[in-house]
Amino acid sequence: MTTATLSRMQEEVRALARERDAVILAHNYQVPEVQDVADLVGDSLGLSREAAATEATAIVFCGVHFMAETATILSPDKTVLIPDPDAGCSLAASITGEQLREWKAQHPGAIVVSYVNTTAEVKAETDYCCTSGNAKAVIEAIPEDREILFLPDMFLGIWLERVTGRKLTIWMGECHVHAGIRPADIERWQAEAPDAELLVHPECGCASQCMAFGNERTHILSTEGMINFAKASSKNRFLVATETGILHRLHKEAPEKRFEAVSERAICKYMKMITLEKLRDSLRDWKHVVTVEPEIAARARGAIDRMIEIG
Ligand code: 13P
Ligand code: SF4
Repeated sequence: MTTATLSRMQEEVRALARERDAVILAHNYQVPEVQDVADLVGDSLGLSREAAATEATAIVFCGVHFMAETATILSPDKTVLIPDPDAGCSLAASITGEQLREWKAQHPGAIVVSYVNTTAEVKAETDYCCTSGNAKAVIEAIPEDREILFLPDMFLGIWLERVTGRKLTIWMGECHVHAGIRPADIERWQAEAPDAELLVHPECGCASQCMAFGNERTHILSTEGMINFAKASSKNRFLVATETGILHRLHKEAPEKRFEAVSERAICKYMKMITLEKLRDSLRDWKHVVTVEPEIAARARGAIDRMIEIG
């Protein structure tokens, strides 16, 4: 797409959003041209909070399906659209409602903490949802004598055990994008760029090893946490261990600083299914409406509200 076509389409998207009274929410991993037309770009927690608070008539969610589902549950009176309904999440697909019911039956009395990267059906079986932005605070809010079933991301679970000192019973799921960022990627970079700060998402396969480095230059953060950290830091160079879409936002928010992806392969094909064209079509043709069965939504709501309130 030429620059002129791109900016024409961006203007079309903005005009349609105004006409339809729709707010455009985009995750930090979205392609640059989608991030640039959004009303808010953020992490799962920030976008959920905005979805709950917005006064717009409709929400167009430029992210993956579980995020749009969460917005539907939080704002049942609004229309929630997703530009591509097939934008899934391999981590959310790693546990079903049925599997969670069986797991709970094996651990009677345990508290269930689900990462927000789960389906509405799994959230309906959950006591507390959390995101990478508030997972530590959520675990700390649970009485120490209660067993916690944590799902579905094992790397986030292992990191939480370390930072909270709590023993968790962890589901062995993983995100294929983050699990693919290996300790060897980090080691190579740390040798090549000893002056750089390392920003690591807790879903990464390398997150637990990074902590073992005991290194004050390594920071385990949610995507929004990375942006806030880089902006506030007095340092100038950062290595980024998460999906590469975040680099656009980092460059935009801290243009004077240097950011490099630890792994150029860290690309989420689901996040990239949302394009500017599909966003335009979504607003123009009022598709694809994201619905959640009312009974499931009602059961999932309490766990999501707890997530919004904590941290
Ligand atoms: P954040 O909540 O940190 O934005 O992460 C969401 C996600 O899907 C990470 O892969
Ligand atoms: Fe899911 Fe991983 Fe993509 Fe995040 S990066 S949306 S966890 S598949």
